[in-house]
Amino acid sequence: MAGIVIIGAQWGDEGKGKITDLLAENVDLVIRFQGGNNAGHTIVREGTTWKFHLIPSGILYPGKRCAIGNGVVIDPKVLTDEIDDLRAKGVDLSGLRISANAHLIMPYHMLLDHAGETKLGKLQIGTTRRGIGPAYADKAARLGIRVQDLIDEKILKQKIMAAMEPKRLALRPYAKSPELDLQSMTEDYLTYGHRIEQHIADTTRITWKTLDEGGDVLFEGAQGTLLDIDHGTYPFVTSSNPVAASAATGTGAGPRDIDEIWGVAKAYATRVGAGPFPTELDDELGATMREAGGEYGTTTGRARRVGWQDLVALRYAARLNTLTHLAITKLDVLSGLGPLRVCTRYHTPNEASFDEFPYHQTVLHHAGGVYEELPGWDDDITECRTMDELPQAARDYLAYIEERVGVPIALVSVGPGRDQVIWTEAGKATAPALRAALA
Ligand code: GDP
Ligand code: IMO
Ligand code: MG
Repeated sequence: MAGIVIIGAQWGDEGKGKITDLLAENVDLVIRFQGGNNAGHTIVREGTTWKFHLIPSGILYPGKRCAIGNGVVIDPKVLTDEIDDLRAKGVDLSGLRISANAHLIMPYHMLLDHAGETKLGKLQIGTTRRGIGPAYADKAARLGIRVQDLIDEKILKQKIMAAMEPKRLALRPYAKSPELDLQSMTEDYLTYGHRIEQHIADTTRITWKTLDEGGDVLFEGAQGTLLDIDHGTYPFVTSSNPVAASAATGTGAGPRDIDEIWGVAKAYATRVGAGPFPTELDDELGATMREAGGEYGTTTGRARRVGWQDLVALRYAARLNTLTHLAITKLDVLSGLGPLRVCTRYHTPNEASFDEFPYHQTVLHHAGGVYEELPGWDDDITECRTMDELPQAARDYLAYIEERVGVPIALVSVGPGRDQVIWTEAGKATAPALRAALA
């Protein structure tokens, strides 16, 4: 048996969906463990683009067991829309399971997310406004409503009333909003409950059973390490723990169930929303990279901020997540850019220098990168399928990252398509997830 965790090693949108889809082929269960529909995971297969917000990225394999774990927050409207859309496209959803213990995003969570951001004005976080923060806040305050509550009208209504009571003041501007009407909210949520009832399950037991019977489980992360509420660039973070440790709490697996931890990182860096980004390129080169990489959010369509590869942050992510493998995506985007810079240290205006990721918010806000310059390459690499086919400069760039981060690169992605990957020798040699594929 093997538990394999996939996490974002940067600020999200690293290409986790593509890597999950690749590794999912030979596993017995794919389970999401945190986040909600703030996530947007893209898979490109035979020219068709799929975007998932809640449903795990393994769903395109017919009958594949795919679960939404207890650590996820679910907007049932988004979930049922996603189910309808996939069903209309002929996707087999028989393997979908939804944790009865997962918390729900309610209409008031979305309104509060919106109001919170508006109130912060210039200091806003740039959330996806999907109600993620307020839903996790209610979970911590023990005012959350869970998937299992959708089945019982009386319990549901009581819990909605209890959850709304302490928010009365904050919700006053929306008092007349039809979404906040108790009766219609209860009815809408009961309807969602009926629609997903056949998928509701004890996903913790499903996870245990799969592992205990010798199966492989893929834990699919959302967001990225630097958006982690404990270890990221707080308060410019999401409200969950995207780090690998949360694959256990977010599903019910134990830490010893985890055998491999794959960190997905772009060959450069991006961030969407506000907050420190020491290697940001707020210039023409950044704009060129944004266009070359199609760096516009999958969920909100916002332009992503773009910057050089940040090895200080990547080393931090490697240690925090105890990464066993690295998957480097979007190497193709760097073709033709000229010399490439890689951040090896941070410096601050008062001449301080940091080899390690600083914990202090003020330091992070003022940190800029100290760079090593490496040769670039002009060749189109999107058709390369082995390391030997890559230009020497691209191989050197990867070797530099691998050595400085200290984690083997198992695969390199050279385009959005499913086949646009290069498995390294290290990847082929060490990935149990590939056992079946390589046998
Ligand atoms: P996720 O949230 O980590 O799953 O990533 P997103 O799907 O939000 O963003 C990654 C984007 O990059 C998607 O549009 C992918 O189709 C695309 N992508 C993934 N890998 C590659 C790659 O190697 N090269 C290029 N050019 N695009 C890629
Ligand atoms: P995937 O899974 C990139 C960012 C938002 C904002 C901050 C908080 O596709 O990688 P939230 O709505 O979570 O309260 O917003 O987190 N953010 C993401 N950025 N990729 C994501 O998901 C993100 N999910 C949230 O832009 O800065
Ligand atoms: Mg995304």
